[in-house]
Amino acid sequence: MVATRTIARMHQAAAELRAPIPKAELHLHIEGTLEPELAFEIAARNRMSLPCADAGELRRRYRFHNLQSFLDVYYATMAVLRTEQDFADLATAYLERARSQGVRHAEIFFDPQAHSERGVGMATVVEGLWSVLGSSEQRYGISTALIACFLRDRSADAAMEALLAAMPFRDRIAAVGLDSAEVGHPPSKFVDVFDRARAEGFRCVAHAGEEGPASYIWEALDVLKVARIDHGIRCLDDPALVARLRDQQVPLTVCPLSNVRLAAVDRIEHHRLPDLIEAGLLVTVNSDDPAYFGGYIDDNYELIRNRLGIDDRQLVRLAENSFRAAFLAPQTRDGYLAELAEFSATVS
Ligand code: HPA
Ligand code: ZN
Repeated sequence: MVATRTIARMHQAAAELRAPIPKAELHLHIEGTLEPELAFEIAARNRMSLPCADAGELRRRYRFHNLQSFLDVYYATMAVLRTEQDFADLATAYLERARSQGVRHAEIFFDPQAHSERGVGMATVVEGLWSVLGSSEQRYGISTALIACFLRDRSADAAMEALLAAMPFRDRIAAVGLDSAEVGHPPSKFVDVFDRARAEGFRCVAHAGEEGPASYIWEALDVLKVARIDHGIRCLDDPALVARLRDQQVPLTVCPLSNVRLAAVDRIEHHRLPDLIEAGLLVTVNSDDPAYFGGYIDDNYELIRNRLGIDDRQLVRLAENSFRAAFLAPQTRDGYLAELAEFSATVS
């Protein structure tokens, strides 16, 4: 027992000594980085209350049994965000964490409708985030891009309204996405919105196959014509879909800790990430909503290393995939890949 604990401690110490792999984060909801302590700080200055006494109690409530049970807490907590300063503080806190986790590039989701429904407009959200993201490269050594997500459990008209509100911020928003409660809200519901977004020059991504069926992944590809699938783990139910994803090297932004915390997978040892890799898919590993799921991106890398037997060579490959799957200019991508190659040469 003592020996087991000693080995576990040595293991942890080794992990702490190891510099994190340079990587891109491609599946990260900025509202999902709102740590309870910051939520309470922002609530106090906005003279708002949260439905519990303190940050510790809020964190103890983070026990979810599916996506919806998480979304209920996620939307309730983000309601404290009201001003540009709130969004700026949120972005600053994330970038500080991201830097310590080896993130070199981050493509960051936000949920405009979750704010506009509370009377907080697109300008407040985007200006607040951008006041920090606009200089993230100089201040944190992290390049960033924003992805505006439509809430799939609201109407297609509401999504179109959000797209129109995003238009004036076209230079600050690289892509549009689709998130929130998946089952019962297939991608095809949003065909007109995505057609319009593409015509306006936005890149397109969508959550699909997190809790929903493989058919939603087909729809995201064929109807919404997305460049990446967020989550996508249910593709393994459909061999023809796996072949399609492999042949076209469509990136999947997989989030292992999230999948376990939201019970899409019953325990990490049963996560089929190794099968996705084995099938030749362009897999990336990401954090989703790290303040709620118990870890940021490098914690996910450590988790799959320790619990799924993903070795260092495969971890470097996942990091490489993250830069390949990112919306980066070729020269910038090559720079990050060169940095990664140098990193892996020094550790192997
Ligand atoms: N799935 C769908 N919607 C979300 C998620 C997620 O994992 N996180 C935040 N919004
Ligand atoms: Zn997500």
